[in-house]
Amino acid sequence: MNTGRSAIDSCDGRTAWASFAALGIDADQERKQEEMGEETTLEARERHRRVLVTGGAGFIGSHLCERLLARGDEVVCLDNYFTGRRANIAHLLTNPAFEMLRQDVTAPISLEVDEIYNLACPASPLHYQFDPVATVRTNVQGAINVLELANRSRAKVLQASTSEVYGHPRVHPQPEDYWGYVNPIGPRACYDEGKRCAETLFFDYHRQHGVRIKVARIFNTYGPRLRSDDGRVVSNFIVQALEGRPITLFGDGSQTRSFCYVDDMIDGLMRLMDSPDEMTGPVNLGRPYEFTMLELAKLVIEASGTRSEISFEELPEDDPAQRRPDIKLARERLGWEPTIDLPQGLRKTVAYFRRLLEI
Ligand SMILES: NC(=O)c1ccc[n+]([C@@H]2O[C@H](COP(=O)([O-])OP(=O)(O)OC[C@H]3O[C@@H](n4cnc5c(N)ncnc54)[C@H](O)[C@@H]3O)[C@@H](O)[C@H]2O)c1
Repeated sequence: MNTGRSAIDSCDGRTAWASFAALGIDADQERKQEEMGEETTLEARERHRRVLVTGGAGFIGSHLCERLLARGDEVVCLDNYFTGRRANIAHLLTNPAFEMLRQDVTAPISLEVDEIYNLACPASPLHYQFDPVATVRTNVQGAINVLELANRSRAKVLQASTSEVYGHPRVHPQPEDYWGYVNPIGPRACYDEGKRCAETLFFDYHRQHGVRIKVARIFNTYGPRLRSDDGRVVSNFIVQALEGRPITLFGDGSQTRSFCYVDDMIDGLMRLMDSPDEMTGPVNLGRPYEFTMLELAKLVIEASGTRSEISFEELPEDDPAQRRPDIKLARERLGWEPTIDLPQGLRKTVAYFRRLLEI
């Protein structure tokens, strides 16, 4: 139910009722809202943690919104639906503790919040290369906007950074103090360099303004609500297998990735947010076991129970050869370790795609 709460988000508790009046909401309506058990902004903030999730209608974001609501937080989801979908959050819309704001993260954000998870950014190469300039703007201007908001509301802010900041790593596995090896002018640079600049901004706001920051370097994450059409390897393979088509491998299939199931990732992100203020990161979050693309294809065929063949295509430019997180820091400082192995996670993901594709 929309009570006009989002319209008063920029107000503090003292001016909230004045804003209701300015919106033309009369005393009767106010009374009705109270009778229905609605809280004012002030009451809600005293009672619950209010959390902003940018990119909350996306794959990881929608799972995060769910988990935050389940533990009793009030959640504001901000998304421009570039790659996110209403269907991902449709089941949350009736929850009075959940609000959806259709907004671009590059526009100034007027809210009062306690914590911010900044996830807004297309994550698949197909989508972030669709409009590379917009991708850079989303990363850089988006980071400035959430950091300005955190500074104003004294909120903690977590950045969803990426293993892509390591580029074509010369160190393997990648620890957080490895600075990476990134092509700054290639077709993936809008994402890789955009995320690197966002990390820079996070640490500059921390040093310059004392903003409480958390930087998570997320490695490949998969699970239900991945899009079937976004070119990410797990969803691609599963859809191809379920439709009985050949599974397409790029190059000779020997490049490696480490895959983390989404539930484990959400757990890691929430633990990082709840960690002491001095734990700024960057911290790697991912499952530290490496699989070649050929191994992944075989596991997907097994989990789907189909007989797809494997076909080989040309390797795209700047595709990293290997990826594996060193998660010593997350283990020691967050007590975090992924618990769901790849065959188990693939079975859950295949079940989701079976329902989605009605196969
Ligand atoms: N999934 C992964 O394996 C992975 C790995 C590393 C980092 N990450 C990071 O995690 C975050 C979430 O990734 P995901 O896999 O859920 O991707 P996703 O594409 O499903 O989600 C991104 C969300 O951000 C929204 N968005 C994009 N641009 C926006 C803008 N300008 N304003 C407002 N909303 C905008 C999209 O509509 C979408 O809902 C991203 O920042 C991504 O870079 C993900």
